[in-house]
Amino acid sequence: MAIWSNKFHEEMSQDAYQFNQSIQVDYRLLDADLRGSKAHAQMLGHQGILDLEESDSLVKELEQMRQDYAAGTLAVDFTTEDVHSFIEAELTNRLGTIGKKVHTGRSRNDQVATAMRIYVLDELQDFIKHSQAAIEAILTKAEGHLDTIMPGYTHLQRAQPITYAHYLLAYAQMFSRDLSRFSDLYDRVAADMPLGAGALATSTYPIDPFYTNDQLAGFTAPYINSIDAVSNNDYAIEFLSDLAMMSMHMSRYAEETIMWSSQEFRFISLKDTFSTGSSIMPQKKNADIHELMRGKTGRVYGNLMSVLTIMKGLPLAYNKDLQEIKEQLFDGIDHVKAMLTLLPGMLEATIVNKDVMYKACGTGFLNATDCADYLTNKGMAFRDAYQVSGDLVGYCTENRKSLEELTLAEYQEFSALFDADIYDAIDLKNCVYRRNVTGGPAPEAVTAAIARVRDIIK
Ligand code: ARG
Repeated sequence: MAIWSNKFHEEMSQDAYQFNQSIQVDYRLLDADLRGSKAHAQMLGHQGILDLEESDSLVKELEQMRQDYAAGTLAVDFTTEDVHSFIEAELTNRLGTIGKKVHTGRSRNDQVATAMRIYVLDELQDFIKHSQAAIEAILTKAEGHLDTIMPGYTHLQRAQPITYAHYLLAYAQMFSRDLSRFSDLYDRVAADMPLGAGALATSTYPIDPFYTNDQLAGFTAPYINSIDAVSNNDYAIEFLSDLAMMSMHMSRYAEETIMWSSQEFRFISLKDTFSTGSSIMPQKKNADIHELMRGKTGRVYGNLMSVLTIMKGLPLAYNKDLQEIKEQLFDGIDHVKAMLTLLPGMLEATIVNKDVMYKACGTGFLNATDCADYLTNKGMAFRDAYQVSGDLVGYCTENRKSLEELTLAEYQEFSALFDADIYDAIDLKNCVYRRNVTGGPAPEAVTAAIARVRDIIK
């Protein structure tokens, strides 16, 4: 029997009951709810709304339930409507009438809102920790490839030489921003403890949400408006948006790895630990894990769109539609966490084929900009130098040569400013090493960038 069913004359239809149930999804809020309920019971005692002995035994039993659950000795009754009803029923089983007092001055609406925020704060901490580990793994990998020269691309056309470390640092930046978004969200959620808001209009008991807030680790302030406190799900949308963004970053990385491990590129090879085979083609080694990462990103966008759509047009305050948000949020959390925790292993399983990367820089005129810069340094205006370098590329293409293969005499036919030092200027390694400016690909610049990222993610 549901906690609210006394004034109903007929039993709820079994189908409707099951449709309404959420315990299959929200049972994972069990510990978070117990912590919220404990804080509420403490406040009831402190404010004299309950006797201190009553409040004490509620607090003790709620803590006992936490321990039992952690020890695996508290069996969740999956026939209950939701985890919140289950907790009250279990508490009442254990304490009798006193158990029924836990819901004094509280509604399931502020109870759910609080459990969800506690859960989200825990998860955000977890995501911050895992993001730090992933970024650290990227930095460590980068340190091993400071002078691994590879083509940098724009429009997927070979553009200018960079290093694999420099490339990886781009991802370190993406994940650092993800990390800082998690931490911003943490502060916003922490400053909005909903207990006390009741169903939507607080209560007539002399409650003290500030006191409740102080009992709950992580929170910094209680809600300001009770209607908003029980209907606000911005944090879920923000979290999913942060997760969608992070997945998008992982998906881009995954896509490049898939492409680069193909026979067409062969820039990298994947260790067996992160590859799969084919059931029919004996030669195949596939990047299934990376492909799944790319695929799951679509799913996480779906989670975000679902919640945005659930919230759209909902009248204030609580509506049962809100129950649907949990499943979407949990799904996003689970899948992105799985992806994020795989990243360090993925990087470790990535073998970089330095020679193939270097060789790829030999075609595509990646040093054409450097050739123009050479003339600029000798006094030619950049636009004119760009023209000369472009003409040289045209000449090389016609004659099937690279810039390195032209003779000085050929160079000088295009400009008298060319001298023997042109070969140094267009040397691939020099092209990279000379870009020794903030944020650039030169090993020294990348080393400085690594230090800055390390500093930031602390
Ligand atoms: N399981 C419900 C949820 O998560 C609990 C809130 C019920 N409140 C209500 N007014 N029906 O949304």
